[in-house]
Amino acid sequence: MSSRAKWLMGCAAVMLFTVVPLASRAEEAAGPCAPIQPCTACHNPELTRALAKCLAEPFVAPPEAKELKNPISPEELRKASAFGKASYDIYCDGCHGPEGEGNGLIAVKHSVPSINISIPRTQDQTDGELFWKISNGKGAMPSWKSLLPDEDRWRLVAFVRSLRKKE
Ligand code: HEC
Ligand code: HEC
Repeated sequence: MSSRAKWLMGCAAVMLFTVVPLASRAEEAAGPCAPIQPCTACHNPELTRALAKCLAEPFVAPPEAKELKNPISPEELRKASAFGKASYDIYCDGCHGPEGEGNGLIAVKHSVPSINISIPRTQDQTDGELFWKISNGKGAMPSWKSLLPDEDRWRLVAFVRSLRKKE
């Protein structure tokens, strides 16, 4: 291969591995509490820890999210919590913990920010609001819409409901 061809290929590689990711990162960066990406969260506790200060900013779904209706049929929804548990164990347990109390192993071991989602503060929100928050994230709470399809996120809402603390 000529050295010119090698040089061109080198440039293409640099574009692909640095410029393209930097550009998409810049697009994502909408303010200091823009949500972290799902697979970065637990694998980069340094970065996640830096987002702890975001907990001080309110996490509020927009008014239209309140009205979002779960599109899964009632029969499906009854099964949904079991499906939801499988993805909860993979994607959420590390931070929110098995009972949703915010004491997941990764959160505790690596000081990754986490919160209790079994209490009224979370459980009194509508399905639509929880769906919106799981989809969009904030700070250390990843935005899951790029990784999990809508239906899986509605199933997660059904599972999160099952974590409600019995009063
Ligand atoms: C809730 C926290 C959490 C999230 C979210 C998460 N991981 Fe992990 N991941 C872990 C932990 C903890 C381990 C180490 C497990 C072990 O040692 O048994 C791990 C291990 C791995 C491994 C195996 C590494 C090895 O050396 O064996 C891969 C690959 C991986 N994760 C990829 C991903 C990808 C891709 C995503 C996004 C879909 C992701 N992870 C999201 C916590 C997480
Ligand atoms: C890396 C840790 C981490 C992972 C993984 C994670 N969360 Fe979160 N979650 C948080 C943090 C931190 C907050 C609070 C964010 C804030 O207010 O700044 C949050 C907030 C939430 C809320 C909103 C609670 C409320 O009262 O408004 C819900 C619902 C939620 N998470 C569900 C999930 C689900 C479902 C998953 C898995 C798909 C998940 N989380 C994965 C850290 C995490």
